[in-house]
Amino acid sequence: MKPYFLLLCTLLLPITANASTDIQQLLQLVDYIGVDYSGAVNDGQITHAGEYDEMRDFSKAIFEQSQSLAASARKAEIVELSRQLITQVKGKGEAVDINRIAAAIRSNVIASYDVAVIPGQAPDLQRAKQLYVEQCSSCHGDRGMGDGPAAINMDPPPVVFTDYNRYRERTVYGLFNTITQGVAGTQMKAYPQLNDIDRWGLAFLTSAMAQTGESVKQGGAVYDRDGIRQIPLDLLKLTTTTPAQSEKSYGIEGLALMAFLRSRPDVLFSRGNAALLTFAKEEMSDSLDAYQKNKPKLAYKLAVKAYLEGFELIENGLNTIDPELRVSIEKSMTAYRNLIRDGLPAAELEVETHRIQALLQTAADKLDRTRLSGGAAYASAMVILLREGLEALLVIAALAAFLIRIDRRDALKWLYGGVFVALLLGAVTWWASTYVIDISGMQREITEGLAALLAAAVLFYVGFWLHSKTGATQWKEFIENNIQKALGKSTLWGLSGLAFIAVYREILETVLFYQALWIQTEKSGQHMIFTGFLVASAILAVVTWIILRYSARLPLRQFFAVSSIFMFLMAIVFAGKGIAALQEAGELGMNPVSFPTVDLLGIYPNIQGLLVQLALLIVAILMWLRSNRASTQVS
Ligand code: HEC
Repeated sequence: MKPYFLLLCTLLLPITANASTDIQQLLQLVDYIGVDYSGAVNDGQITHAGEYDEMRDFSKAIFEQSQSLAASARKAEIVELSRQLITQVKGKGEAVDINRIAAAIRSNVIASYDVAVIPGQAPDLQRAKQLYVEQCSSCHGDRGMGDGPAAINMDPPPVVFTDYNRYRERTVYGLFNTITQGVAGTQMKAYPQLNDIDRWGLAFLTSAMAQTGESVKQGGAVYDRDGIRQIPLDLLKLTTTTPAQSEKSYGIEGLALMAFLRSRPDVLFSRGNAALLTFAKEEMSDSLDAYQKNKPKLAYKLAVKAYLEGFELIENGLNTIDPELRVSIEKSMTAYRNLIRDGLPAAELEVETHRIQALLQTAADKLDRTRLSGGAAYASAMVILLREGLEALLVIAALAAFLIRIDRRDALKWLYGGVFVALLLGAVTWWASTYVIDISGMQREITEGLAALLAAAVLFYVGFWLHSKTGATQWKEFIENNIQKALGKSTLWGLSGLAFIAVYREILETVLFYQALWIQTEKSGQHMIFTGFLVASAILAVVTWIILRYSARLPLRQFFAVSSIFMFLMAIVFAGKGIAALQEAGELGMNPVSFPTVDLLGIYPNIQGLLVQLALLIVAILMWLRSNRASTQVS
């Protein structure tokens, strides 16, 4: 490596332009010392005279540049460290000491000067791979081994990205910096024509080429276990520390986690649209990869993850911009999972993967161009709450109406207690999922699905019970003697439980959708999300009021009849939604049929869901007929 010109430029720059130090170049110099010193000196002996001279020049340049830094709290420390660096290099010190000082200079500079050392959004490695093939592989080689056709006799030769020792000493930011600035005096040009995020993508891509699949996998396991809580490799650390530093601080797991994060940086990004869609695309790639390696189960799981933890969270936003695209992606992703299950040949699945990834990219582009306006955010916020909240509210209102009608207002507190605990626990779960535990999209859907099925069973039972009482003739008496007594402690607990299930299952998803919506909306429109929320709450309140008011007017017998039918219906709706949630989580198979989708009624066009709903309907009708016949026979 002979970046003499770089040196020359950096030395001349402050003088000629009389500007304050170019921070990026200072950092680049610091990086080069860290990387190359071990090739110049070993055990106090000079092993490569040319490199050693360069190291001495670099250390002097760093010292001079640090002196011309703009004033800051850490400037004195940086200058002092640079002085130590000169002394160490002059005395042919150990590489570890040089690296330690270089790392300290780097972190001090980054901490006190405004340098953009992290990408502003999740880098898209998919795209980076393509760019690499087009623009870099001719020198660096297809796999980063420095053996591209243009590399023959090149002096200095292109960097070999698969060189493990170099890998250990390189930061992602350092690579980004080189791609941005080039290395004067070598064939490595600057790439200003690539935008920031593409250069970051290439930096991450090349930073990971020396890694083994094994270490990435190991790091993935560390990440799945406790994220970056035990080993705090946040984005800043990820881009500005070396694998060697990470190993020194956190051992072998630190090294592995860094390997994983370098190949999957998107997991660290706050989940804006672009990041979520990038995440979905990466998971699709991983899924295909697993499938090609003959691991269909894993492939299936990853495809589920791509949907639940990526695409689903931007669906609401996309729907306001391009509903057709939303439907088409959703359908394709569902179909993809079925293809995995049906054992499609890998080559055909690959075609499908790329098609879906292209659709996801289209969605990303569209969302990128259009931040949601206040109006769209308002509409989404309203729809989300109405959709998620309506069925829970209907059940609660119907039960409340029932209690009021049988003169057991005192039992209302059990009902509302259940709702209250659900809200509280929902808030706690949400908080915990953000800060303490990781709730995957899969666990969320499974909880929601099982809760819905449980609620369906209870509602079905309640409907049946109510219905069985409609045959009574002396209503007032019957209620006093039977129903009021029947509402003992255990039934009240049941009531609370039902209210709890109905509400709790909706909360996590609602919060998640609102979070995503918040990020997707332009700053000036975000307050409209509150308005949407309030309007939807008002609508729900009015619906409750109507139910309570009109149910109070119905004669008792009719009230019981209507309530029982209503409970049956809700049971069928909940069953449909429960099945759908389990299918989304990939726990249940799904065979699509052509049938209309009615979200509000939990009707989705697939055999499993429709069969369960049909079965419930038939059982309800049979029971209805039987007890009607029984009661007519009695009277
Ligand atoms: C014409 C040949 C050529 C092309 C094309 C090329 N490079 Fe380089 N690259 C080099 C050479 C030569 C070096 C070594 C420079 C030196 O000696 O410091 C290098 C160094 C680098 C480094 C520094 C690595 C390190 O560890 O210090 C990075 C990063 C890099 N290239 C990335 C890229 C990327 C990304 C592309 C495509 C956008 C690319 N290069 C295209 C020739 C090339």
